[in-house]
Amino acid sequence: MAKPHPEAKVKLDAYSDAQNLRSFLKGQIFGTIAPVTESNITKPEIRGRTIIVTGANTGLGLEAAKQFAELACVSRLILACRSASKGNAAREAILATLPSEKGSQLEIYVWELDMASKASIVAFTERTRRELDHVDAIVLNAGVDLVSYQKAKDEDGGYEMTIMVNVVGTMMLAVLIIPVLREKARPGLTPRITVVGSAVQFLAKHALLVEAEQNQSGEGIMQWLSTETRWKNKIGEDRYNLSKVMLQMLVHQLAARYPVSGTQNTKKGVIVNCAAPGYCKTELFRTAGTAVSRVTLKLIGREAEVGARSLVVGAVGQEGDVKSHGMYMTEGAVNGIGSAWLRTEQGKRIEQQLWTELIDEVVKSVPTAESDL
Ligand SMILES: NC(=O)c1ccc[n+]([C@@H]2O[C@H](COP(=O)([O-])OP(=O)(O)OC[C@H]3O[C@@H](n4cnc5c(N)ncnc54)[C@H](OP(=O)(O)O)[C@@H]3O)[C@@H](O)[C@H]2O)c1
Repeated sequence: MAKPHPEAKVKLDAYSDAQNLRSFLKGQIFGTIAPVTESNITKPEIRGRTIIVTGANTGLGLEAAKQFAELACVSRLILACRSASKGNAAREAILATLPSEKGSQLEIYVWELDMASKASIVAFTERTRRELDHVDAIVLNAGVDLVSYQKAKDEDGGYEMTIMVNVVGTMMLAVLIIPVLREKARPGLTPRITVVGSAVQFLAKHALLVEAEQNQSGEGIMQWLSTETRWKNKIGEDRYNLSKVMLQMLVHQLAARYPVSGTQNTKKGVIVNCAAPGYCKTELFRTAGTAVSRVTLKLIGREAEVGARSLVVGAVGQEGDVKSHGMYMTEGAVNGIGSAWLRTEQGKRIEQQLWTELIDEVVKSVPTAESDL
């Protein structure tokens, strides 16, 4: 189902991935992303917003949280981090950047969340339902790029860790938290889920997904890709790119199931978009990367503060409104459906299968999850 959501009102773009990459490089080298201010927010008059950011203790998540903190329409931030101490340090860092008046009005909470643990994701969602009267946006930012093979626990599905955190954990949280966002939506403001995507989806070796689809014998594409020997022989090099193209596919699927205008059970809808920050100087490459990529990052890498603006646009900006639903956003603007390969028959078929695999995994922990779909 690799097509824009009808409500997105964006033409299906006809770019090839080579063109997508050229345009990415042009933006990366010559472009920038405008900061989000009162003038380019959707409905700035609706104040008191609550925003959740996962992986908010460093990099893009922290910078996005700082930018949310400055906005007059935001009054509560939830920093969802796997380490409470790192989260608390981030809280202090955010407060230190704010004028004292805003600092005293803003509530900032650190909530523990491990995206490699299904139990943690379920507990986080339940806490959100229990403790928050509304959630106006969640930025699903936490992610990894791991060079060594690591495996999630068996009770979490036993996926390779890049797939677990970037794809399964991220989209499981999206699926589980959507009902909470919709139930608690405030009149006049459609809640948003902004998933942090990447232009590396244009580089992904789609042939590996096709090989996985053809050779898996019932265990599923994500499990096939997660096998240690395969990962070490060939999947590992493309691990991160593959994770981001799979994420983009699942964003399409999720958006297609949750129209902005609401489902038949409720008229309350949600906006789901996928925002890419560009190539940014963060801790993501703490273990990954070659000498060449490190030099490239130095030469053309963006400051995290600039890249984080795209996440803020996705969650509160005008560009991240209805037309971004199900879409890939880059340079702070809606760009299209993402990788051109998603328009192929193979792409569409694999996208559908990945969704089935995701939901099968989610319902093992929350059997009722599908009833809201
Ligand atoms: N940097 C780039 O050029 C770039 C480009 C495109 C997209 N992105 C995406 O942007 C997002 C943020 O990356 P970044 O560049 O800011 O990297 P980063 O500096 O390494 O930050 C990643 C964040 O994710 C958290 N995280 C990792 N595993 C987690 C887990 N199991 N549970 C909870 N949190 C976890 C990290 O927590 P710890 O500090 O505890 O590890 C950290 O807060 C990622 O999704 C990444 O793929 C980055």
